[in-house]
Amino acid sequence: MAYASFRSIGAYVPEKILTNQDLEKIVDTSDEWITKRSGIKNRHISADDQTASDLGKEAALIALKRAGMTAEDLDMIIVASISGDYLFMPSTACVLADKLGVKNIPAFDVLAACTGFIYALSTAKAYIESGMMKNILIVGAEALSKFVDYSDRTTCVLFGDGAGAAIITATDNADERIRDIHISADGTYQDFLITPGGGSKHPCSAYVTDERLHFMKMKGNETFKVAVRTLTNDVEEMVKNNNITLDDIKLFIPHQANYRIIKAVGDAIGIRDDQLVLTVDKFGNTSAASIPMAINDAYEAGRLKTGDLMLLDAFGGGLTWGSALVPYAGK
Ligand code: ACO
Repeated sequence: MAYASFRSIGAYVPEKILTNQDLEKIVDTSDEWITKRSGIKNRHISADDQTASDLGKEAALIALKRAGMTAEDLDMIIVASISGDYLFMPSTACVLADKLGVKNIPAFDVLAACTGFIYALSTAKAYIESGMMKNILIVGAEALSKFVDYSDRTTCVLFGDGAGAAIITATDNADERIRDIHISADGTYQDFLITPGGGSKHPCSAYVTDERLHFMKMKGNETFKVAVRTLTNDVEEMVKNNNITLDDIKLFIPHQANYRIIKAVGDAIGIRDDQLVLTVDKFGNTSAASIPMAINDAYEAGRLKTGDLMLLDAFGGGLTWGSALVPYAGK
């Protein structure tokens, strides 16, 4: 049987940096409040003409190079994003395929907000283990700043732009296999994180823009509580179901939404600081891009080596959540 393995990682952030001090000039907030409540200091912001697929392309080229592959080697492209180039069609994956110069392979998007990368990873694993595909590019790419309401202090301080990409390949080596992935959702909390306007419920209109319904809205405090509970349960189940201990995990790489959420989950499950990957301070919340960007950060810092076991854990709009137990199979 072919197993799915995590072959390489890459990431990209746009040049422009938006600091807490910059935000103090835009809305009624302070560096002290943002730092204390979220742990965020900076986020990167895409240029006016830069789209999610542009960011994804840069990340994908790095991941391909590190896998020793070119775009022609790919059998499939999956993009996770809530800030794609277009509203609904064409998919950002199709635009990205074109930018990478490949055609005649399947390319599609998955929509699971901040859990999107784990949903994409799970999809890639299933295609590879069914024997249908061998080399799949998965990308989390977000140009969230284009959907953030910079007059709403409760959301605009949190989000940033960036992309992360990974190459998932077939292998016969059982030691390299992605050990386990769990994904789930609960739509009863659909209004906790929502972009209300532009879809078939509230099609584009002057009303939608006047009421600012085309921007992301979040019930932050309610989301916070469900996030801590769900992320903790998910990780505990993952560890138990796979008969491992926390000492077997080299790096715990959670979705980077809020330092306090990460710390609460880490403390609840008993993760050591040296196992934790934290990037929320420099990138903010980059939704589906956050986990691959954090993996890349650890890789470039020399903290992730061949065979190291990663525990990924994400939570986001939908509500959706998921975790994955993944050995790094790249060089
Ligand atoms: N600056 C200053 N004050 C602010 C700001 C701000 N930027 N934003 C809110 N406040 C005020 C509020 O108005 C409120 O004031 P009040 O007490 O007078 O009413 C006070 O600060 C506290 O607000 P809370 O919302 O209760 O603050 P909280 O401690 O919950 O922190 C935060 C807010 C950072 C948003 C937190 O709730 C959070 O991180 N939530 C979870 C986010 C998350 O995990 N999302 C999931 C992934 S995102 C995705 O899927 C796209």
